[in-house]
Amino acid sequence: MPDGLPASAYVDPVRHQAERRAVFAREWVAIGDAERLADPGGYVATEVAGYPVVVVNDDGTLRGFHNVCRHRSGPLVWDGAGSCRSFVCRYHGWSYALDGSLRSARDFGAELPEGDLSLLGVAVDTWRGLCFVNLDGTAPPLVDWLGAVVDHCAPYDMEAMRVVHRSGHDLAANWKVYAENYQEGYHIPLVHPGLHRQVDSSRYAVDLVGPVAVHSAPTRAGSVTDGAWLWRFPGFALNLYRSGMSLETYWPTGPTSTRVEYTFFAAPDTTDEESAAAVENSVRVLDEDRVICEAVQRNLAAGVSRPPVLSPHHERGVALVHELVTGALA
Ligand code: FES
Ligand SMILES: [Fe+2]
Repeated sequence: MPDGLPASAYVDPVRHQAERRAVFAREWVAIGDAERLADPGGYVATEVAGYPVVVVNDDGTLRGFHNVCRHRSGPLVWDGAGSCRSFVCRYHGWSYALDGSLRSARDFGAELPEGDLSLLGVAVDTWRGLCFVNLDGTAPPLVDWLGAVVDHCAPYDMEAMRVVHRSGHDLAANWKVYAENYQEGYHIPLVHPGLHRQVDSSRYAVDLVGPVAVHSAPTRAGSVTDGAWLWRFPGFALNLYRSGMSLETYWPTGPTSTRVEYTFFAAPDTTDEESAAAVENSVRVLDEDRVICEAVQRNLAAGVSRPPVLSPHHERGVALVHELVTGALA
């Protein structure tokens, strides 16, 4: 196994800026379900790795923009989701059509400067009810990018599932601490006693297929954690169960902070009680991971850490995170 990343990689603000550009702007990033974008005028606004973006349904076509006015950088929309017929900047009132073109520059008092003053675009695509953005527009087509995820999801009727829960979780830890934690089941017996009772974590396996990790563990009888657990670098995780599926998407909000957006979709024959139990289960596991990740982050920040020692049996997925981040920054 190669040496892991040094502790400085988890606290350095210069590295954080480099990773925003070289990792999160370059890859596809899931922003959640496409249900909120089903009707013309529906929009979703969020901040992906510090980049404010808005995705809107422009008469049936999804379009994405930086949520930044071309006049003097005011935000176009302020809330997370809603519906509108045009974007009107709340700073000085410039307005834009939903295709991003400038419609009017209120009371500007002179000819506008030459050149295109349309909103700056970001690539948008959907796959099986999930919405993704690619900020710099250089990522491969979404299905190619998803790679092995596509085949593993084929047996599941994802389109029939409906969103029953959305929540956001802020972690005081570098995003790579969370990504690495996500990539191994080695910690399950100690960190997740409830999950440990449901799955046989001694037989937890992580199969790597390029930038995709396919997780599996035999379940003990009556478990709700049956299914396919999929991850794609850097921050996409999709778990499929008999009762539904959960999307976890995460990105850095600073050198030592991470945002996790969690969405649960229930299968049509799943009862409210079953959905609630699955959500409670996942949110508990997420919070247990938050606690350990934040403790690890404090130790990394203390400056006494050495490069990690990785188990070739359990932690090849952790090594993959290191390898892909290092490759992206090279
Ligand atoms: S910043 Fe948008 S109108 Fe001035
Ligand atoms: Fe965990």
